[in-house]
Amino acid sequence: MGPPGAGKGTQAKLIIAEHNLPHISTGDMFREAIKNQTPLGVIAAKFINDGHLVPDDVTIGLVRERLSQDDCAKGFILDGFPRTIPQAEALDTLTKEIGRPISSVINIDTPREMLFERIGGRRVCKVCGAPYHIVTRKPKVEGVCDKCGGELIQRKDDNEEALATRLDIYIKDTAPILDYYEKKGLLHTLDGTIGADNLMKEIDKILEATK
Ligand code: AP5
Repeated sequence: MGPPGAGKGTQAKLIIAEHNLPHISTGDMFREAIKNQTPLGVIAAKFINDGHLVPDDVTIGLVRERLSQDDCAKGFILDGFPRTIPQAEALDTLTKEIGRPISSVINIDTPREMLFERIGGRRVCKVCGAPYHIVTRKPKVEGVCDKCGGELIQRKDDNEEALATRLDIYIKDTAPILDYYEKKGLLHTLDGTIGADNLMKEIDKILEATK
């Protein structure tokens, strides 16, 4: 959990490399569908590019289908889901159905002004989606992904206007979920300003303790 630019995708990608779990990022799944111009992509593009949430029924259906796949039987890392209370309630049902309750909810707490700096400087690999930053996480060769050699681009929704919308929606629709998980005793809030590698070590401790 965390607002746009908090570092959810960066951490999820570091964690899956360490723990060998599937990374289920609804944002990545929608972007892939948009790239491939699938029916889901056509719907998602209408909402994502200007920073709005894709409707709950579409998003829940997508996650339901993904969690039913075999590679999720041993666990999974969710990134960007749930984002509304109805999504959180649906996730409770889905995880009961597959017998894999949520073990921990990690919230990356990052100040608003830092989110604008991070999103403004973010570049992502067009091929594998790996995130970079033009100041804090530079690739070895400018404009080229270290991992796969793909071209680094700026996301369509990484502009000031769309980011302001995404932040407003985060406060209104997504932040209330933190309380939902606090009451269930699952929430761990971590400082998102300590650097990606240090943050990963903190997350790792939580994952080891709640395995
Ligand atoms: P999504 O892809 O989930 O985007 P987001 O939540 O807006 O988050 P971001 O990907 O922008 O940021 P992040 O927290 O992953 O940060 P990152 O690690 O890249 O969703 C996109 C859209 O899809 C939504 O707006 C919505 O339309 C739709 N959608 C998705 N899920 C949905 C759902 N459940 N329901 C409905 N609609 C949904 O890091 C950002 C930058 O900071 C990078 O440059 C990185 O290098 C740098 N950085 C990261 N960590 C650190 C650090 N610790 N220190 C310094 N720099 C850092």
